[in-house]
Amino acid sequence: MNHSGGERSNRFPPFDFWTSNWADRLLLPGLYRPGGFVYVLVSPNFVADGVSRSTRPESTGSFIEMSESSSRSLKLPTASEVIVFKDSASACRAAADRIADVIRQVPCPKLGLATGSTPIPVYAELVAKYRSGSLDFSGVHSFNLDEYYPISPLNDQSYRWFMNHHLFSHVGIPANQAHVLDGTVPAEAADEHAAQFERWIESAGGLDLQLLGIGRNGHIGFNEPEEMALAKAIDLPTRRIELHPVTRSDAAPAFGGLDHVPTHALTVGTRQILKARRVLILAFGANKADAVAASLQGPPTAQVPASLLQTVADRVVWLLDEASAARLVGS
Ligand code: F6R
Repeated sequence: MNHSGGERSNRFPPFDFWTSNWADRLLLPGLYRPGGFVYVLVSPNFVADGVSRSTRPESTGSFIEMSESSSRSLKLPTASEVIVFKDSASACRAAADRIADVIRQVPCPKLGLATGSTPIPVYAELVAKYRSGSLDFSGVHSFNLDEYYPISPLNDQSYRWFMNHHLFSHVGIPANQAHVLDGTVPAEAADEHAAQFERWIESAGGLDLQLLGIGRNGHIGFNEPEEMALAKAIDLPTRRIELHPVTRSDAAPAFGGLDHVPTHALTVGTRQILKARRVLILAFGANKADAVAASLQGPPTAQVPASLLQTVADRVVWLLDEASAARLVGS
C-alpha cells in the first residue's frame, strides 16, 4: 500500500541534496579530523518538547572532538547527539552500554528493538552481559519494529526468527514479554493486528528506548519514503505497508532473489517511534552515508523518514562509524 498513492522511485536522496540552499549552511568542514577519535556533531536544532513539535528547516552545526576514552557526552536541550566512532564495533559496544543502562535503571523497561545486520553485534554484547551475570532481562518488555508480511516465524528471514536467534533465546526474557508483529495474520486482520500491537505499546506506557537502524533510502522501521505532509508523516500508525523498491532490492540476497522478497511488511509507525523517551539510531558503512546526511542535514521530510527524528532531536542519539558519517562534511 502506497499511502501517497503516487509513484516511488529508486532515487535517493529524493531531492537535490548537494545543491539545495540549506546545503550551503552545513558544517564547518575544516573542523573535521578523521582518525582514531570520537567526534560529536551538534546537529541542527529542532525544538521538541515531547508534546508539540516545532520544525525549522534551518541547519547550523559544529564538530567537537573527543578522545574515545572520554565519557563526556555533549547534551543540548534541543539538539541530537551525534557520535562518530572509529569503527562499527566500538559504536555497537556503546549502544549496548546505553541499552544496558536503561535495563538497569528503568523499572520494567520497555524496549523497541530493530533487526537487520546493523544491530547484530549490539545483541551479541547484550548476550555477553547477560552471561556474565551483569544484566537481567526478566523485567524487560520488548516490541520489535517490524516484520515482513506475509511470512512464517519458522522462516529464517522472519524477524521473529532473527530475534529468537540473536537475543531472545539467550537472555531469559519471558516469551510473553517479547513482542514481534505476526507475519501470519490473515490479510483482512492485518490492520487490526497492527492497531492492537500499537495499543500494547501504549498500554505498557510507551517505549523507554527505541533502537533503530536506517535504510539506504532513509527508512526507519519500514516507514518508507513517501510524498506526504510533515504533520501526517510524524503521526503514522502501526500498519501494513508496501515495501520500497530499494528495501526489497537490499533484501534480495538474503531471500535468494528479488522474487522471494515479500512485497509488504508490518511496521510500527512514526507516531510510536517519535514518542519513545530515548532513540538510539545506528548507521554503518558508506552505503548509509547519503541517508545519514539527508537525515541530519536535510529538511525533515516524509521522503527521508529518518529526518523526522529532527522533530524530537533532544531525545535522539546517532551512533555512526567514519564511513556512514563521511557525507556529513560533503566529502
Ligand atoms: C529492521 C528495520 C530496518 C533496518 C534497516 C537497516 O527492523 O527496522 O529499518 O534497520 O533496513 O538494515 P541493515 O541494518 O540490515 O542495514
